[in-house]
Amino acid sequence: MRLEDAARQIYALVCYWGGHGKVLPVSLEAIRRSLSDGNGLFIEVDEKVVSYVAVYESARYLKIGTVVVDPCFRRKGYGEQAVRGAIDPARKRSRKPIVAIANGNSSPIFQKLGFTERPKEDADEELRGGRTQEEWLSCNRKFFQLDG
Ligand SMILES: CC(C)(COP(=O)(O)OP(=O)(O)OC[C@H]1O[C@@H](n2cnc3c(N)ncnc32)[C@H](O)[C@@H]1OP(=O)(O)O)[C@@H](O)C(=O)NCCC(=O)NCCS
Repeated sequence: MRLEDAARQIYALVCYWGGHGKVLPVSLEAIRRSLSDGNGLFIEVDEKVVSYVAVYESARYLKIGTVVVDPCFRRKGYGEQAVRGAIDPARKRSRKPIVAIANGNSSPIFQKLGFTERPKEDADEELRGGRTQEEWLSCNRKFFQLDG
């Protein structure tokens, strides 16, 4: 699939799940960049993007985020497969901790892949994603880190 077609399909998925409050907004341009620099990974089935994940590198972390699966392709392992595929390249790129902020649906994926849940209090401002400490502690997101 052409990267531009993939980027547009991914953008539609991110907008869809963003509209349901599941993921933070990401621009089409940022998705294009993630695909061209290798920080974004997607799985396709018959010319259709079924899942996407991005690795965001900051000064402190490699954060696995924007995990989205096409609504018609959920519970078929595509979310897990995409996250799994992002881990090794992330490990090779940097020794920074690999972390994720997950919701109820994606938490089992991180647990299955060997991430351990960290106390929410340990999440710094960056990981809280713009939430106040109070909002962060009361939201249903969990903080995961991959050891080793
Ligand atoms: C969360 C999401 C990425 C999961 O993707 P998926 O392809 O459906 O998940 P997988 O099939 O890989 O499932 C892996 C495991 O996660 C768990 N899981 C996945 N979806 C779940 C759900 N809706 N409820 C409970 N557990 C779930 C299960 O343990 C599952 O394993 P199993 O099917 O063998 O029981 C997908 O539902 C999605 O795009 N949701 C909207 C966006 C979102 O919430 N992203 C996460 C942001 S933190």
